[in-house]
Amino acid sequence: MKVLDGQVAVITGGSRGIGLGIAKAFRAAGAHIVIAARKADGLRDARAELLRGEGTGDVLDVVANAGEPEQAERCVADTMVHFGRVDVLVNNAATNPYMGDLLELDLPRAEKTVRVNQYGMIAWSRAAWHAWMSEHGGTIVNIASVGGLIVDPQIGYYNATKAAMLLMTRQLAYELGPKVRVNAIAPGVIKTELARAVWEAREPVLTAKLPLRRLGTTEDVGNAALFLASEASSWMTGQALVLDGGATALPIAVDA
Ligand SMILES: NC(=O)c1ccc[n+]([C@@H]2O[C@H](COP(=O)([O-])OP(=O)(O)OC[C@H]3O[C@@H](n4cnc5c(N)ncnc54)[C@H](OP(=O)(O)O)[C@@H]3O)[C@@H](O)[C@H]2O)c1
Repeated sequence: MKVLDGQVAVITGGSRGIGLGIAKAFRAAGAHIVIAARKADGLRDARAELLRGEGTGDVLDVVANAGEPEQAERCVADTMVHFGRVDVLVNNAATNPYMGDLLELDLPRAEKTVRVNQYGMIAWSRAAWHAWMSEHGGTIVNIASVGGLIVDPQIGYYNATKAAMLLMTRQLAYELGPKVRVNAIAPGVIKTELARAVWEAREPVLTAKLPLRRLGTTEDVGNAALFLASEASSWMTGQALVLDGGATALPIAVDA
């Protein structure tokens, strides 16, 4: 028997990158998968890729923006019609429309960042809670970032929303226990489209500094999410797994 045998997992931002990596890991572990994202084309390709991969679970793709609460409700309602349950929710979709100093940030981009990264986590968790988890239990995995623990010269506001996700993970663990366990993953640099500008041109420089000497992969995050979604982590809630190749295990460079 596989660790997610027959369970149903909803993954926001599941059409590529980390979300697709998690979807692959969950399906290989026996789950049925619901992937949600904004673009139908990407979802269709991802569904086909998942069905070609390891596992036998069904795959439903739903066009839904993580920052639109009524689309979260509709996606979860579609999931209930199609599968009749929602055992696992992965709040993975995020946006980063602004790079620069906090004091230069305009309100529209601040609101968009909060709406998708922060409020999205609440809206999707609420939809899953009311549809299934409050009665039958479940697990929620939030994809935050190691940026939520540090200061960065470029993406301070995005990181602030990730810090909020880490605190809300603990808050929701308190509010939704014992029925639902809520944990987070704080990844470092993972080789996806979102982070391409960070890693593509300077991968050797970045990896040379890391204790584990390589960047992260979507498989790394998929494995961690599988642990948090499964019974293997059954006495763990409100926590964050830092997955960064050791980036936060470096000495502080006082002479830099
Ligand atoms: N890559 C990294 O180094 C890294 C590090 C730390 C944390 N993270 C976090 O990991 C998560 C996934 O990032 P990624 O690197 O996998 O990004 P990615 O490769 O750009 O993939 C993003 C996924 O989210 C979807 N998406 C984007 N905005 C959305 C929205 N408003 N509503 C619904 N779906 C949306 C995209 O599809 P559509 O465009 O079709 O919507 C796509 O499926 C994010 O929360 C990110 O902050 C990434």
